[in-house]
Amino acid sequence: MSQAPRTVVVLAAGEGKRMKSATPKVLHPLLGRTLVGHVLSAAAPAGADRTIVVVGHKAEQVEAHLAEVAPAATPVLQAQQNGTGHAVRLALEAAPEVTGTVVVLNGDVPLLRAETVSSLIEAHESGARGATVLAAEVGNPSGLGRIVRDAAGNLERIVEERDASAEVRAIREINAGIYAFDAASLREALSKLSTDNDQGEEYLTDVFGILASVGHPVGVFVAPDADETLGCNDRAELASLRALMRDRVNEAWMRAGVSILDPSTTWIDVTARLEPDAEIDQNSQLLGETTVAAGAIVGPDTTLIDSTVGAGAVVLRTHSIGAEIGAEATVGPFSFLRPGTRLGRKAKVGGFVETKNAELGDGAKVPHLSYVGDATIGAKANIGAGTIFANYDGVTKSHTTVGEAAFVGSDTVLIAPVEIEPGAYVAAGSAIQKDVPAGSLGVTRAPQRNVENWVTRRRAGTVSAEAAERAIARKDEGGEVSTAV
Ligand code: UD1
Ligand code: CA
Repeated sequence: MSQAPRTVVVLAAGEGKRMKSATPKVLHPLLGRTLVGHVLSAAAPAGADRTIVVVGHKAEQVEAHLAEVAPAATPVLQAQQNGTGHAVRLALEAAPEVTGTVVVLNGDVPLLRAETVSSLIEAHESGARGATVLAAEVGNPSGLGRIVRDAAGNLERIVEERDASAEVRAIREINAGIYAFDAASLREALSKLSTDNDQGEEYLTDVFGILASVGHPVGVFVAPDADETLGCNDRAELASLRALMRDRVNEAWMRAGVSILDPSTTWIDVTARLEPDAEIDQNSQLLGETTVAAGAIVGPDTTLIDSTVGAGAVVLRTHSIGAEIGAEATVGPFSFLRPGTRLGRKAKVGGFVETKNAELGDGAKVPHLSYVGDATIGAKANIGAGTIFANYDGVTKSHTTVGEAAFVGSDTVLIAPVEIEPGAYVAAGSAIQKDVPAGSLGVTRAPQRNVENWVTRRRAGTVSAEAAERAIARKDEGGEVSTAV
């Protein structure tokens, strides 16, 4: 039997006043996707022929986001937010050809699982109903629509809290804001909606009472996990949803073989990917398109954004954006990897090192206190402590190349564009602006001169002068005399 046509309608036109934000509520982020992004991805496996997103408040912003995350979705404008029923009515008016099943989802229910959407659709379609609502039994139903059943347990209507009697408010079975409808029944009921309620809006929820009253079968599908149905109305709720999502994501990765030492302080975006035997230590965040391969150790105190960590690498107390860290490489503590950083196998970036647009070959090392920008560093090269790749002359950026197994002494400035050829050395403290040929030593240090007794004469009476005088006296009476013979 071929599947009946399916349409998904996501409601995302509201401002979300209680968020008190310049950003529309549905665009607030939660572990790698926006609220509406999560809802769209939960709806995706339903295999809709068509997805409509009702936009209104700051529509341009929401549309721009949709173009990025769900380019196949059609935005429909609801210029004035006259209620969820009004929103769905506009969506269907914009799509008169729609028949079959219409799945409607509030745009602010980010924990919803794809399997739950599928089960709802299945329950709805197999029951040949006019409408099915996703419901949940919750501890605190405040603010939500209540599911009112008759004596036989059949759905009678859905009542908003602000329109409810004390008796109805006592009901703890709530409307999650997720529904499946038969398109024709929905169209008919929407045309009968009134605004005779506390908010003076067209309520989508009234569709259930309207259909039930004419004997059209309507039903309830109870969510297996009530947490999935939680909506987001303010920042405090957003934070609790984020924590629930964190726990869900962490548990899935742990069951897939990843070690997470402290799940309560580990935040992994839904877009990140990890392999079994990766280990994530406390206070770490894996964000965006980050991947961590088998046997790698990330953390503690590490943030990786759109970064790749190879098998067996160790990344400790590091902040990394857009970097590729090779297998068995070591990074940190206190390293800052910026976009375009590529570390080869067994490469090392150590403490207080910043890299940007920098490629380190296999086994290359920048162990301490350096800035490496716009550079190619060959395999097994060693960059001494405090080396600065001076890539910017105030106008343009230039590139520096350090060849295989070259050795750059400490406190060197490499002034780009410049090349240290394979196997060349640079003396500590040099400012290098000419290429150093293979096998040569580049040195720009001035010869050292000691001005005798300068401290005792020019800094007389200081602790340094006193220390110097004592040392000189010891030399005069001690072994210094005999060795001078
Ligand atoms: C709605 C339900 C309520 C349910 C709750 C679940 C109605 C009348 N009530 O209430 O029974 O328990 O969701 O979270 O439907 N929206 C529009 N256009 C509008 C109004 C809203 O697109 O004119 C969108 C919002 O952007 C949001 C969603 O619809 O994504 C829900 O709107 P909201 O105002 O949060 O509805 P609730 O009062 O929470
Ligand atoms: Ca809501």
